[in-house]
Amino acid sequence: MNPEFHLSVTITTAAIFTFALLPSVASVAEQGEELGCGQNVNKHRLNKRIVGGVKSSECEYPWMVLMTMDEFKCGGSIIDDRHVLTAAHCFETDDGSIPEVKVYVGANRLDQLTEVKVLSWRVHPLKKYGNFDFDVAVITLAEKLRFNNCVSPICLPAPGRRPDDHEECTAAGWGSDLHTPVTFYQKKTALPLVNYSDCKDIYGDMLDPSKFCAGDMINGGIDTCQGDSGGPYMCHTQDGPFIQFGIVSFGLAGCAQPDHPGVYTLVNHPTIMNFIQDAVQDV
Ligand code: ARG
Repeated sequence: MNPEFHLSVTITTAAIFTFALLPSVASVAEQGEELGCGQNVNKHRLNKRIVGGVKSSECEYPWMVLMTMDEFKCGGSIIDDRHVLTAAHCFETDDGSIPEVKVYVGANRLDQLTEVKVLSWRVHPLKKYGNFDFDVAVITLAEKLRFNNCVSPICLPAPGRRPDDHEECTAAGWGSDLHTPVTFYQKKTALPLVNYSDCKDIYGDMLDPSKFCAGDMINGGIDTCQGDSGGPYMCHTQDGPFIQFGIVSFGLAGCAQPDHPGVYTLVNHPTIMNFIQDAVQDV
């Protein structure tokens, strides 16, 4: 990477911050072997905390994407060399205008991310403004990504597959840790699945089989939060690849409260998966 090519971009969120970015993905691509989906070079370390922030290791989740839509911020995940999976509600604006969407890849620190140009995006046709049904969207990038240790895709689950007891599930992002709306380092937390009917008791009609819940129902304290939306809920066995089962979607009563786990779009629900498969045909 060439330090002369740094340019400064200012992003306004609740907090204003500046981060230096490299101009194109070509600069992040390095010599090196192409890895299969869901592989990371840095070993995943167990942890049980979030909101408060446990840093991910450098490039621990090389599929992680930070997105900015005007003043709003979301996560996303690289699913192939041309597409990013995220949440539909990330594209909603108060006045229905089309947001300016920027996508950044390749690092944990905000000031080391690299912008990649967006060509277009598709939001699930059944997604309705102001509600979290079918909260899924796919972004098509203007150019192919070149994969390396810090830029590579996550795997998507086979139809009907659910995480089993041997798998650990994690969410990651730059969203609020309850102290600051944007964290400088990407953070992560292990998040256990919550029983569907227990979650249905809490969310009622807001929950349907195209969604699931994860978090700590009893104690709270671990959760995704504002700004993490669109990011992956990913599971893996000790040495297996990471598989994305969910997309961060919503929660009630703030974040990390007991009895209010986070709600995730179920990636391999047929209505969601068909949409993703169609959308990745866009080139
Ligand atoms: N909707 C939020 C966002 O746009 C994500 C909220 C997740 N909330 C939660 N309690 N898990 O970033």
